[in-house]
Amino acid sequence: MDYQTLIEEVYQEIQSENPRGKVADYIPEIAGVNPDQFGMALVDLEGNVFGVGDYQVPFSIQSISKVHTLTMVFPKFNTQLWSRVNVEPSGNPFNSIAQLEYEKGIPRNPFINAGALVITDALCSKFDHPVEQISTFINDLAGENCVRVNQEVMNSEKNHAARNTALAYFLKSYQNFDNPIEQVLDVYFSHCAIEMNCVDLARSFSFLANDGYSIFAKREILTESHARRVNALMLTCGFYDEAGEFAYRVGMPGKSGVGGGVAAVMPHKFSIAVWSPELNEKGNSVKSIRALELLTDKLSFSLF
Ligand code: DON
Repeated sequence: MDYQTLIEEVYQEIQSENPRGKVADYIPEIAGVNPDQFGMALVDLEGNVFGVGDYQVPFSIQSISKVHTLTMVFPKFNTQLWSRVNVEPSGNPFNSIAQLEYEKGIPRNPFINAGALVITDALCSKFDHPVEQISTFINDLAGENCVRVNQEVMNSEKNHAARNTALAYFLKSYQNFDNPIEQVLDVYFSHCAIEMNCVDLARSFSFLANDGYSIFAKREILTESHARRVNALMLTCGFYDEAGEFAYRVGMPGKSGVGGGVAAVMPHKFSIAVWSPELNEKGNSVKSIRALELLTDKLSFSLF
């Protein structure tokens, strides 16, 4: 398969279709990003990199980092983790609070904000220097020093944190939060404020296409069994209340972020990261999703 030609074809078609959305503005520091940027990088399991457009420009990975934090925490707790957070799609927006009360403080899954806050809380219980250790972990996965926590983005989200703070206190009221709330929120906002480019992001997801083994870190990151579970969670929950639509249109396990990025894997073949800042009303990148839909259509191949 000539992946370079494939992604260039996809890129050209997206640029001529030019589907538009709206840059996330609830984090003011992200609202100012140039909305026309669009890039894509595909990494195969030999480590070959194929890129097009703005694929070398760092961007805010936001919720995509929830996959990295889950990966750090999962082997520490194994199935015990699922007593604190469920593994069901939520069918609700990423920052919804309503379901949490009906379900007595157990978030539906680790990718909605409530669930990701539980994961970050669990991470803070096991790692003494969480922000540094998350950065080191992702650098290791990507095989190079690529992670930068953008402090302006971090502070910007921290100054507009009413919803996430409410979620954390709500979790605490159900005894599903162990560490000081401010500390966990700081770690959460910091990992969401990580910036990387499409190449490094795709490299950091490569182990999920490779049964848990990273060719860049040169070690097993997750067991095959755990890697399969993370992929199942991405497929069913990675796009919040648009997870079904993404499975239908694209058919790959993936994770989105409000910075406009999407990282996805084709098991046993490749990992891919796509980025374009304008989002649809569900908070997922319009061009990134369309690009991945075109990609699997052209490949005549997906998980299904
Ligand atoms: O917690 C938040 O609102 C952001 N730091 C992350 C949200 C996000 O990326 C949702 N994904 N599409």
